[in-house]
Amino acid sequence: MHILMACDHGAVPLKNTLRDWLRAEHHLEVSDFGVDGPDSVDYPDQAGRLCRALLAGEGERGILLCGTGLGMSMAANRFAGVRAALCHDEHGARMSRRHNDANVLVLGGRTTGEAVARGIVEVWLNEGFEGDRHRRRLEKMDQLMKESES
Ligand code: RB5
Repeated sequence: MHILMACDHGAVPLKNTLRDWLRAEHHLEVSDFGVDGPDSVDYPDQAGRLCRALLAGEGERGILLCGTGLGMSMAANRFAGVRAALCHDEHGARMSRRHNDANVLVLGGRTTGEAVARGIVEVWLNEGFEGDRHRRRLEKMDQLMKESES
């Protein structure tokens, strides 16, 4: 699986740790869209970079990180076709895949520790979408987005 990752200045250490671990331990292809330093950037720019690449087929799933995960999840969900889930525990990660078919995982670099984040990522990568009634609900969400654009 090819994973795309991006963060703002609020989550650089967690992004780098997870990136290296996914490559070394899980043997996944990971494209890192930065950032890599402490200088302040705007999370919508980073969310936009990753979501455009994901929707263009450059990767299968995305992981976004900012200080709380809140801004990144709000920004990512502005894109039709992106279902971004801010997760704080493994249960949320599991359900975001089973019921919501989340294609972007969002984590808070200032709210979630490294060990918890690894558990969340592992569950999120391995769970599948259950489809059925949940697909109907995703279609209804897409319909809401179309309505809001018209
Ligand atoms: C940046 O200071 C912070 O606002 C950002 O990382 C994120 O937490 C926004 O939701």
